Amino acid sequence: MKVVVLGAAGGIGQALSLLLKTQLPAGTELSLYDVAPVVPGVAVDLSHIPTDVKVKGFGKDDLATALTGADIVLIPAGVPRKPGMDRSDLFNINAGIVKNLVDAIADNCPDACTCIITNPVNTTVAIAAEALKAKGVYNKNKLFGVTTLDVIRSETFVAELHGLNAANVHVPVIGGHSGTTILPLLSQVEGVSFTDEQVASLTTRIQNAGTEVVEAKAGGGSATLSMGHAAARFCLSLVSAMKGDNVVEYTYVQVDSDDAAFFAHPVRLGVNGVEEILPYGELSAFEQKAKEDMLEGLRGDIKIGVEFVNG
Ligand code: NAD
Ligand code: LMR
Repeated sequence: MKVVVLGAAGGIGQALSLLLKTQLPAGTELSLYDVAPVVPGVAVDLSHIPTDVKVKGFGKDDLATALTGADIVLIPAGVPRKPGMDRSDLFNINAGIVKNLVDAIADNCPDACTCIITNPVNTTVAIAAEALKAKGVYNKNKLFGVTTLDVIRSETFVAELHGLNAANVHVPVIGGHSGTTILPLLSQVEGVSFTDEQVASLTTRIQNAGTEVVEAKAGGGSATLSMGHAAARFCLSLVSAMKGDNVVEYTYVQVDSDDAAFFAHPVRLGVNGVEEILPYGELSAFEQKAKEDMLEGLRGDIKIGVEFVNG
């Protein structure tokens, strides 16, 4: 199996590549690409860790070689937020970066599973879909917006609130990956109940958790270490599923529903990427209203991505 990280020299890219070097199954090839000249050094650095994962670094002129033969491509390339910015403020720079990288995926490894981390995810996933369609290689089962960070944050915050071991807490998170489009389904957390006030404040904290990190880093970027962990979890789930294990993750995928063209759902992963999009179950009145209130914004974010590619 070959896993590629595009943007591997960045804050997320380096943390993610480290986790993949130490956790991917033996025999996996790990290909690191970035436009930053330090990327061959990142690969050499990681190559000294004694695992049977072969790491290779590729600079800006070697994108095609980095991608050829890939089974999974993770994209954390692009600029992060600074305090006062919204994720949509990253569109002007990141839209073109994602479009160019996905064009190269279409040309060099059209059958790979593509996992988009670059913000604004609500829009960049739509850009990726349209770019792949334009090249005639789009497979809706192989394109993912990585929303795992919303899930792990929710699990951490719920565990903190109730004094539980976070490893045993599972919180579904549906919708998109920005502000109110992030919708944790606290009504479905097994074995835990919340007051209405706790639901309201926890939901807001989960929706603003990215901003919490951006403000704490005070101009030094956004979440990188927790995101590296989240992306590694998603990638390792995909690898297990592609080897035949039964794995479910929440992820932002193309759906056939009245919600929006893309929506984070529980998804059963398998050898071909998405095997089955599972229903997200019954919502509480609070969650139903939160979902209805965010749909227009999410659909608008998706439309911006479609129009970016198609004019
Ligand atoms: P960073 O600036 O530390 O790293 C970005 C890397 O991308 C840099 O090394 C840069 O050289 C590289 N890059 C830029 N253009 C490129 C191109 N055309 N090809 C290859 N590499 C390129 O940023 P970061 O903190 O790692 O964040 C990266 C992105 O991930 C941001 O858009 C951020 O908003 C997003 N993000 C998403 C989530 C999520 O939950 N999906 C979470 C955190 C951050
Ligand atoms: C996050 O949720 O931490 C990321 O989307 C980065 C950001 O800009 O908030």
